[in-house]
Amino acid sequence: MNKELHKQQDIVEPDNSSLTRPKLDQDVLGPSPSDVGTVYYSESARRPDGENDVKSSLSMRSMNTTTQDEYRRQEAGRLYNVLNEAYFLPTDDDEFTRLNKQHLAVVIALSSLYTAPQVVETILAKREGEQQKILDVGCGTGVWTVAMAKAFPHCEVVGIDLAPVPLESEAIPPNCRFELDDVNNSLTHYHDLFSVVHARFIGAGLRDHKKCKEEIERCLKPGGIVLWMDGDYDMCTKERDVYSVPASDAHPDGSWFTRILFETSRATLQMGVSDLFAMSSMLSLGLWDDPLLDPETCGAGDLFMPIGPWATDPNPLQNQRLSHVGTLIRQDLSNGHRALHAPLRKVGISAETCNEWSELADKGIALNSPSAILHLNVHEEMNEMKKPLFLRFACAWGRRRAAPGKPAPPLPPVSPSTEREDDLPSSLPPYPFFDLFESKEQAKESYERRNKSKTYTPPPNPPGLQA
Ligand SMILES: C[S@@+](CC[C@H](N)C(=O)[O-])C[C@H]1O[C@@H](n2cnc3c(N)ncnc32)[C@H](O)[C@@H]1O
Repeated sequence: MNKELHKQQDIVEPDNSSLTRPKLDQDVLGPSPSDVGTVYYSESARRPDGENDVKSSLSMRSMNTTTQDEYRRQEAGRLYNVLNEAYFLPTDDDEFTRLNKQHLAVVIALSSLYTAPQVVETILAKREGEQQKILDVGCGTGVWTVAMAKAFPHCEVVGIDLAPVPLESEAIPPNCRFELDDVNNSLTHYHDLFSVVHARFIGAGLRDHKKCKEEIERCLKPGGIVLWMDGDYDMCTKERDVYSVPASDAHPDGSWFTRILFETSRATLQMGVSDLFAMSSMLSLGLWDDPLLDPETCGAGDLFMPIGPWATDPNPLQNQRLSHVGTLIRQDLSNGHRALHAPLRKVGISAETCNEWSELADKGIALNSPSAILHLNVHEEMNEMKKPLFLRFACAWGRRRAAPGKPAPPLPPVSPSTEREDDLPSSLPPYPFFDLFESKEQAKESYERRNKSKTYTPPPNPPGLQA
């Protein structure tokens, strides 16, 4: 951060009474720097000691001029956020493309921007004298945030992230704005304000999952709904309740993509960052035991995404949907495993080993296409681990209690005009790989069945990684 900038910065006292501050002017973050832009930083990004270093300058609520790259640092040819070095995924064009493809795959699978659509739409229905607010925590490219602002123009929508969103100001609807913030600090300025809080794929950036989960859910107002989704760091076989084995000398037919995820998890634990399995494990069991939420309003689900267009269906529309989802997820992952080289390199795994694993992972992912499967069948070479794979997204939701120990307030009545109108063709059946759980027991049964399959010997530490 250029210290000269400090002189131009205009420190604004926090005003938490309203969310109607101007939106982030994205011109200052794009390739054409502007002098008029304003970037907002939340109070939680403020350093307690007020030192004039990078972090304290980022904590200022308003800046006159800056560029996006001042909020990103370079490492090994990729760009990363500057607020939280522990978050190991990049924030650059490749990553933005990956995230947008992943978003699209989720939306196509769910036929919606969110899980629990009826509850969300009831909560967000336009009502006289009330303005609902939506918070997108770890908003990434802002693709969900903007889509929600457009879908619910009467609501205020806020996206927060460690890095600026890659959007021009014209692309941001007037009821939408973005802030730089790190959830690991706190979100007290946002407690009790939001009707819907969305937290999707942010687990890797949370140091203490339980604490951050509570902090995020405290942003709900009574009756508001939290929508969690996070990826499993293990791949499932076609059977869905069997985990694939990470490839190694002991399991040469295992999945190399699974191996990279396995090593990433091991590396981040070694770095003392976060337990990557913790978030999806926590969500896999649902939110029924969460003291802030009313268990009667909780639900959970496993959204399985085919890796590659291998899943088929006799219904042409469903078939097309599965093909799109599989193709997008394969592209997402092909890019994604290379983004994981950074934590692997940090714990001493060589660039050569990372590249070798990625090439092998690409080959494995490419095998998840109908022609490759046919080829394998023909040659009778298909063994368990080269069969098509699924990526699992653990989803969980629930509404905030009215007060400690009390149920959530009843949902507001729905007028006929605000009932959900499904604009999808009526002939499109439900997505076939979304397993829904209505109780903790159901969720636990599925979780335990899947984990029973995890009996493999972990790969030995790769060269460079201490035991
Ligand atoms: C994998 S991306 C997902 C983005 C978006 N939620 C989506 O589903 O497309 C994770 C995002 O969460 C942000 N993030 C991670 N840890 C965070 C934290 N502690 N505070 C705020 N944002 C965080 C990252 O910067 C990144 O943009």
